[in-house]
Amino acid sequence: MPGLIDKLHRDHINMSELLELIAGQLSLMQNNSADVDYPMMRDIARYFMSFPDTVHHPLEDEIFALLELKRPDLKGELAIVRDDHREIAELGMEFYRLMEAVCSEHVVARSAIVSAAENFLARQQGHLNLEESEIFSAATEALSDDDLAAYELEHGGKPDPIFATELREGFTRLHDAVVAARG
Ligand SMILES: [Fe+2]
Ligand SMILES: [Fe+2]
Repeated sequence: MPGLIDKLHRDHINMSELLELIAGQLSLMQNNSADVDYPMMRDIARYFMSFPDTVHHPLEDEIFALLELKRPDLKGELAIVRDDHREIAELGMEFYRLMEAVCSEHVVARSAIVSAAENFLARQQGHLNLEESEIFSAATEALSDDDLAAYELEHGGKPDPIFATELREGFTRLHDAVVAARG
């Protein structure tokens, strides 16, 4: 697997860990628990805006455009992935705004919070599954490290605010929650 595809794959593992945290919060909400951690969900939404939406997805868009030149038969799937990137960013922003409202003690219907969290989770997981099951294997076969060298140079140095060695300010609490969930 080319190094850059492997890096994107590792990003997916990181995102999956955060989505698991949301799934855990969702079952707390569905059980009417008083222990729902809204600030954590807000921080997860903020993370998706800060890294997947602004670094991971734009890099994929560039790499997948190159992949489409080599595998025009994947045009349909790659169009879905590209649309997903735009729609997921919009959905994530809405989810963030809702979590921010809850954390600022605005009254928000529980049903609205649950459905926003469910939608966010389902869209993100569906997107990760599509890329992992179909797109990354095709990219691994069609693209070499040499093909991806320019992208590596342009994007390789942009650090992940939670999973890189240097944590970005404002994400340390979420990093601790991820480590705690690993057990
Ligand atoms: Fe993606
Ligand atoms: Fe991805």
